[in-house]
Amino acid sequence: MDDNKSRKMDVVGWVIFMMKMVVMMSGGVVAKGGAAAGAGQVSAMYVFGDSLVDNGNNNYLRSIAKSNYYPYGCDFSGGPTGRFCNGENFADLLGRLLGVAAPPPFADPATSGAKLFSGVNYASAAAGILDETGQNYGDRYPLGQQVINFETNLGQMRRMMPAANLTRFLSKSIAVLVFGSNDYINNYLMPSLYTSSYNYNPSQYANLLLNHYARQLHALYSVGLRKFLLPGIGPLGCIPNQLATGQAAPGRCVDYVNQILGPFNEGLRRLVDILNNGSHPGSMFVYGNSYGAIGDILNNLGRYGFKVWDRGCCGIGRNQGQITCLPFVTPCLNRNEYVFWDAFHPTQAVNAILAQRAFSGPTSDCYPINVQQLSLINF
Ligand SMILES: *[C@@H]1O[C@H](CO)[C@@H](O)[C@H](O)[C@H]1NC(C)=O
Ligand SMILES: *[C@@H]1O[C@H](CO)[C@@H](O)[C@H](O)[C@H]1NC(C)=O
Repeated sequence: MDDNKSRKMDVVGWVIFMMKMVVMMSGGVVAKGGAAAGAGQVSAMYVFGDSLVDNGNNNYLRSIAKSNYYPYGCDFSGGPTGRFCNGENFADLLGRLLGVAAPPPFADPATSGAKLFSGVNYASAAAGILDETGQNYGDRYPLGQQVINFETNLGQMRRMMPAANLTRFLSKSIAVLVFGSNDYINNYLMPSLYTSSYNYNPSQYANLLLNHYARQLHALYSVGLRKFLLPGIGPLGCIPNQLATGQAAPGRCVDYVNQILGPFNEGLRRLVDILNNGSHPGSMFVYGNSYGAIGDILNNLGRYGFKVWDRGCCGIGRNQGQITCLPFVTPCLNRNEYVFWDAFHPTQAVNAILAQRAFSGPTSDCYPINVQQLSLINF
């Protein structure tokens, strides 16, 4: 116990030290520095993805993948919003580190006009890289539609800002794309509803996903975005939803699920190299090693102050992961000691570690540079 506690203090001390470093570094590099590193450098954040970063888009869609009810948001200042977490999600926390506001959801009618210049969140729960992914949950904005929705907003922005200024504005913005999980858990790993696993082996399927992904990234580059963070997929074989299938040995994750993802993450990291190699001048694509970061947390629970990894804080049935967090299910009280909030999603405590590692971590976390370095580049 004592050992655990002192390790927890070490982590807190380390985080505070890193934050001080960040402030010192930004003071040195950024002329008109704000409180956070990159403040004044980053104009806005445009977020694309799935439920890991959805902050309310699915509230407006005919979908059963919704989370705008208690106990979702029980630790969030705005209460339940459609975030699939007890508190802030990865994009919220990364935005904090960058010193930019958490952008509002695209589907909210109030997200228009001058507001578009403070960033927009296009993410949609159950969405994937492939259009058909997640259709078992109802409507959602897949990657392709999210890109179209961004282009729609851009049309409005072009009418409000001179072209040269908009080019500069976009080149100082950061695009965050969190995709891939649903192409596995709500497609490839659901052979009763989807044919992909009959048609492709894991490596062919990863290539199919990455080809689609590359095309959409190129589209976003073509309309002016220049800085991209592309987190890979976490160890899905360890989420309560997969543990609840009973396929894992006691105390272990579902290994074959984690193995199936391998080619996607490896391919995404290679794709980043290719995209950075001259085909897209004046831009930078960065790979976030979510798999490694979450794997590290799962292998070293105590070091991060966690106690429970094999069941959701809010959920029903085996591993509290057979049925996800429903309205008025009582969540666990010690939420900072849980890795998973519900059957699919990490707690805010884990999101905070992921955001910090993407922001200031070494190349093993964020490759070839971290988000802080990305924010300081001038294109
Ligand atoms: C556009 O950029 C120029 C040069 O930086 C600046 O002087 C001007 O105020 C900007 N205009 C708008 C509308 O932002
Ligand atoms: C691309 O860039 C990486 C990293 O800078 C480099 O190692 C590699 O040789 C380059 N070429 C190709 C074709 O990937």
